[in-house]
Amino acid sequence: MNNKKVGIIGLGKYLPENRLTNKDLEKIVDTSDEWITTRTGIKERRIARDDEATSDMAVRAAKKALEKARIKPEQIDLIIVATITPDMFFPATACIVQNKLGINDKPAFDISVACSGFIYGIAIANQFIKTGTYRHVLVIAAEKMSSVTDWTDRSTCVLMGDGAGAAVLGEVKEGGVLAVHLGADGANGDLLKMPAGGSRLPASISTVEARLHYLKMHGNELFRHAVRIMADAGKKVTEPLGLKGDDISLVIPHQANIRILKAAAKRMGIDPEKKVYLNIDKYGNMSAASSAVALVEAVEEGRVKKGNIILLDAFGAGLTWGAAAIKW
Ligand code: ACO
Repeated sequence: MNNKKVGIIGLGKYLPENRLTNKDLEKIVDTSDEWITTRTGIKERRIARDDEATSDMAVRAAKKALEKARIKPEQIDLIIVATITPDMFFPATACIVQNKLGINDKPAFDISVACSGFIYGIAIANQFIKTGTYRHVLVIAAEKMSSVTDWTDRSTCVLMGDGAGAAVLGEVKEGGVLAVHLGADGANGDLLKMPAGGSRLPASISTVEARLHYLKMHGNELFRHAVRIMADAGKKVTEPLGLKGDDISLVIPHQANIRILKAAAKRMGIDPEKKVYLNIDKYGNMSAASSAVALVEAVEEGRVKKGNIILLDAFGAGLTWGAAAIKW
């Protein structure tokens, strides 16, 4: 491993136009704007069109990231798509994206680590660029969560949204990725899953009738794990670097629940009111796309300035988690 510094050189996002508000949801399930707002922080989410698949959103976000990085698609050496809602089981959504971007030959694969996907993608890109294997890696986090949402289940359908965020990583002169921490806890995998459609329970009339092709979640238990795990992951990245709460300019977390994010920040010694970036009110939980879109918007809004150290922090199904300290 050499001393190459690897950073994000271009960012892009895509959010479907269609907004589904809490008020709209009141007409679909037994819920209220008040319950959703106070328990989660979500006010509305975006829902992709029927003819819009994950790869379509991924490509739109990727094109913007390439534009910002000022590089052509053919200069990308590797494409990673983080998603749990691929267009189909195979081919990989990353291969579909590769074709739509007009990139030939270059490797492309998906990673399935749910909400932590963007940070896992950054970790992989960082390694490949640091070793000199590749110069530019495109990491896209894209999800059509509405396609695995049970619209009769009020405990989950109020939480999810669709969208995509993309980052081009390459060598930078200053700053860049300082450290990454990844983790998983398969023993708790049952807390959040889509039971059918895979080799364990292939699609059949009975799996469809039992509504097993939708996301199932034990929200309460996950909540407790999420606070502890996100705080631990953040510390595992920052402490070895000698960074204290004050050294972090902004935490850009996976947007699962406003209460989780504030509690986790507090445990890390980071001011939850001033230093946690939030856009959950607009988009809900977009799984892997959440932290990617949050990073894009934090940068667009001028919340991340040159020289700032930011902390990406995510947790999701698997269970999986990831945190990355990045100097801008
Ligand atoms: N509207 C009204 N009432 C509701 C709704 C709703 N949409 N959903 C649940 N309730 C009710 C429940 O039925 C329950 O009623 P009861 O007390 O009469 O039984 C009550 O509200 C409380 O339910 P809880 O599940 O205890 O509510 P909680 O405060 O835990 O909030 C939530 C639920 C928002 C799901 C929370 O637990 C959470 O955010 N969990 C973590 C989610 C997460 O981090 N997921 C991981 C990432 S996602 C990914 O990887 C794709």
